[in-house]
Amino acid sequence: MQPGVFISLEGGEGVGKSTQARLLVAAIEAAGRRVLLTREPGGSAGGEAIRALLMQGDVGRWSARAETLLFAAARADHVERVIRPALATGTVVICDRFIDSTRAYQGAQGMDDAAILALHAFGSEGLMPDRTLLLHLAGHTGMARAKARDGGIADRFGARDTDFHRAVAAQFERMAAADPDRFRSIEASGTPEAVHQRVLSAITDLLDRPGELAP
Ligand code: TMP
Repeated sequence: MQPGVFISLEGGEGVGKSTQARLLVAAIEAAGRRVLLTREPGGSAGGEAIRALLMQGDVGRWSARAETLLFAAARADHVERVIRPALATGTVVICDRFIDSTRAYQGAQGMDDAAILALHAFGSEGLMPDRTLLLHLAGHTGMARAKARDGGIADRFGARDTDFHRAVAAQFERMAAADPDRFRSIEASGTPEAVHQRVLSAITDLLDRPGELAP
């Protein structure tokens, strides 16, 4: 059996992760591999129930510590019930956000990176993606796009200020620089198709026949 492959997509609000995830799924399916598209927070029944707690309500509904624990709990359920079983059957798993979102968003609220990783070690037995694609869009175009997409209704995270989103972006850039084996930074400007070609080039080595997905 082919080994499973775990790919996460990361980045700030509205950089086009979900569009790119869908295009990537279609390309991998067309190449004859079984694919699972999933997301965080969510992706399992328990994860989605926790997502509702996390996304609704006032910005200050949860303390940063409680919020970090809720993300870790949602992830633990998702990993055990959905991601690991899929990887065990050789599926390519594409996850729209994963552990690095906690490190960036909760890290930007002062949560210690080592503590977040320790929670991940316990909750999800430390599962890490084989490759993490960090979609990068300069400036704050991304937030504007997310707001337009949501019809102006921002969720608890979209509702935070520019400084917060700048801190999140800085956290992502730091993680990518510290772990070049796992991360690939993808320039997210241009047409969805142009970005898709960059995404394909960044994962093609992980699939069975290197080059089969190359543009
Ligand atoms: P999204 O579904 O639009 O990506 O929204 C999820 C929001 O939750 C987004 O603002 C990022 C935030 N988030 C965290 O703060 N920590 C996490 O661990 C994850 C997965 C998401």
